[in-house]
This record gives sequence, structure tokens and C-alpha cells, in this order.
Amino acid sequence: MLEITQTDFLRLVKFVEKNYGIDLSKKKHLIEGRLSNFITDKGFADFSSYVDHILKKNTADVQELLNRLTTNHTFFMRESTHFDFFKNTILPQFEQKNKNKVLSIWSAGCSSGEEPYTLSMILADYFGPKFSQWDTRILATDISQKVLSQAKEAAYSENSIANVPDSWKKNYFMKSGTKYTIVPKIKDNVIFRMFNLMDPIKFKMKFDIIFCRNVMIYFDQPTKDALINRFYHATNNGGYLLIGHSETLNRESTPYQYLMPATYKKL
Ligand SMILES: C[S@@+](CC[C@H](N)C(=O)[O-])C[C@H]1O[C@@H](n2cnc3c(N)ncnc32)[C@H](O)[C@@H]1O
Repeated sequence: MLEITQTDFLRLVKFVEKNYGIDLSKKKHLIEGRLSNFITDKGFADFSSYVDHILKKNTADVQELLNRLTTNHTFFMRESTHFDFFKNTILPQFEQKNKNKVLSIWSAGCSSGEEPYTLSMILADYFGPKFSQWDTRILATDISQKVLSQAKEAAYSENSIANVPDSWKKNYFMKSGTKYTIVPKIKDNVIFRMFNLMDPIKFKMKFDIIFCRNVMIYFDQPTKDALINRFYHATNNGGYLLIGHSETLNRESTPYQYLMPATYKKL
């Protein structure tokens, strides 16, 4: 395995943190472990020349680096109390309130699609025959092209749908070979885009509900605070922000109102 010098390690950490918010300052072993063979295969003699190259910001190479260093672990129905709250509290509220039948949802840091597809299946169940009368399209974004391609493919192994209720398996998945593919009605309700959460949020609409779960764990406090403020401006009045259950917002400084663990509201 190649060793990275402290200088090169700090150069790489600074670059990734400044541009993508991801804090790798305690991940020296992870960097050496995940990148050594990869950079040797690419023809670099050592980390020093690789870091020189990355700092020139060639998009494809930076993407490859992010694909290797980001943690994309996710699964259907993850942290299911949020989905119960979504179904039992949030949806009935917006069904009453949004007379234009538009519900705008953002899954920020969506990884390989399990989170937005879980939401899409809940929406289809909730609205039933009225599903097609509502515009409930979910924007799902991530920084990693690799996970976005997997998400768009929407094909999952038997193992990864083990937690999914039987009625969903029957109604919302089709078996193709060894994989289970999401049916068009659920798939087409999700729009995948590449988006770096460090960038200004300039989408056309504001959101009723933002899910940004298990993403900010990799961000330092100032990066997190700045992102929360950008989310706040991108949330409709009365809208929600849901974060991962192992994450916290600074209750003193956050503009959102705390409702319960990992659940916030814009009044
Ligand atoms: C652990 S996954 C979380 C997936 C899902 N939200 C969940 O809770 O299961 C974290 C995702 O955040 C993405 N991510 C990390 N930094 C990001 C950034 N600066 N902009 C956008 N996405 C980012 C990673 O690529 C990864 O797919």
C-alpha cells in the first residue's frame, strides 16, 4: 500500500473540504486504503503526483475520487419513523393545504435511490387513485455520478429489498433476471440530478419537504450551518427539514423550529 505524506494528506483534505464540504481530516487510513491501488493503476508513482493532478480539478478525475471516498450506504425504509411521520402527519397537512395539488420534495444526498423511491412508494399508497392528479415529483440529488447511475437504473438485489413490505414488492417492483426493478409509475416520479450541496441552491421552486439524512455527518460545523441556512431559504413556509437521526442541528442558531429528533419545521 502507498503511504501519503502529511503534506499531501493535508492538501487533499483541504481541497475536498473546501469544494465538497466532506471532512476527511481523520481518514488518512481510509484514503490510503481506498486509493493506493487505484492511483498506481492510473500510472501515478505516489500520492504526491496524484494530489498535484487532482488539484488541477479535472472533472472526471475528481468524480472518480469522490466515488471512492464518499460513503454511500443506504437502504429502503431507512429510519422508518420519518416515513411514518411523512405519511401520518406531513401528507395529510399538505393534502389539505396545497390546493394546487403540487407537493415539492427534495431528497438531498439521495445515494443509489432507496430514499426517494421509498418516498415515491409512500406517495403512491397515500394518494391511491388520486396519485396521478397530484404533482408530487421528487427531486433527488447527489454529488456522485456513480450512485446516480445506479439510482436511475432502479434495479435492486433481492437482499436489498428484504425490508420492503410484501405489498410494495408486488405492486412497485418487477423481477428482471436476478434483480427487482422499480415500476415506471414510481420511478418516473423521481428526477435525479447531480448537485453539490456546497453550491448555491437555485432550483426554480421552493420545497415543502427536504430530506437530507446522513449526509451532513461528513461536514464540519460551519459548512453544516451554512447549508442549513441555504435549505431554510429553499423551504416553503410551513415546510419541513428531516435530517439523519445521528445528526443534530444547533438549536440556538438554526432558523428552523425543532419538532422532534431529526425533524424541523419552517414556521
Ligand atoms: C450515506 S449516503 C445517505 C443516503 C440517504 N440520504 C440515506 O440517509 O440513506 C450520503 C450521500 O451524500 C452524498 N454527498 C456527500 N457530500 C455531498 C455533497 N457535497 N453534495 C451532494 N451530495 C453529497 C454522498 O455521495 C452519499 O451518496
